[in-house]
Amino acid sequence: MKILVATEKPFAAAAVNGIREICTAAGHEVALLEKYTAKEQLLEAVADADALIVRSDKVSPEVIDAAKRLKIVVRAGAGYDNISLDACTAREIVVMNTPGQNSNAVAELAVAMMIFMSRNCFTPGTGSEIKGKTVGIQAYGNVGRLVAAKAIALGMEVMAYDPFVPAEKMKEDGVTPAESLEQMYSRCNFISLHIPATPETRGSIGYDLLSLLPAGGCLVNTARKEVINEAELEKALTDRTDIRYVTDIAADCQAELNEKFGKRVFATPKKMGAETAEANINAGLAAARQITEYFASGCTRFQVNAKK
Ligand code: 3PG
Repeated sequence: MKILVATEKPFAAAAVNGIREICTAAGHEVALLEKYTAKEQLLEAVADADALIVRSDKVSPEVIDAAKRLKIVVRAGAGYDNISLDACTAREIVVMNTPGQNSNAVAELAVAMMIFMSRNCFTPGTGSEIKGKTVGIQAYGNVGRLVAAKAIALGMEVMAYDPFVPAEKMKEDGVTPAESLEQMYSRCNFISLHIPATPETRGSIGYDLLSLLPAGGCLVNTARKEVINEAELEKALTDRTDIRYVTDIAADCQAELNEKFGKRVFATPKKMGAETAEANINAGLAAARQITEYFASGCTRFQVNAKK
């Protein structure tokens, strides 16, 4: 089988080597498309691929249509909002993610962002410490739990809101379960977002929630830009001259936010949450193993799309 690794944002070389080793040992061929700049390059490369490994690369219905031999797509990472699940299901193509494999890298970045914003974006001036402050974790999944543990180790108080996780589980971890999002936003100096982009969450973080933040409150986004209502974020930052926003996924209106709000906002130049050698190796190799297992035994553990 031909396995295409198509990554606009390439994996570390060690991850690519590991993917190659796993796939060739199982008798498959690996093709590599990195740093591509036009959709057409992906359309051409997928034409004879039986399997596809991607990161945040867009796997649209057009890409699926061009991939006549495709049987499986693995998103080497957590969020699969970049993949057209319906188009894959219609063709009986299996879609998987590699949950948890890059979580630590993202969690470390979320903590780093809290410190960065507390220290004037590493520019001169008196900052503050995160010890003794409260962070609210929105969605207590793989990344959220790691942020909580790291925050506790740094002396922070931690709250979490997740309707899908029992309060008892949070309490066992030393985390206070929030009764509602409103309660969490009104009590936390930092809110760290870990929700996926779904029809329910898109645009769900807006003025009403942000207005509840205590003085100097800061929203930390290592999740997806789509969960933010950008017009309402801008209004909240305008009306509340003390609150702040730090993100790993620049807003569409980021240039305007930077211009208007200066050091109260910060966006990384390119999403870097999972940009560590460790995360690349964990997620890339997991993707390769999931594909070889699927071809060897039909194992569909980690499938995220509906079966036809
Ligand atoms: C994920 O969903 O796994 C993260 O957002 C990482 O995305 P990336 O692989 O594009 O860096």
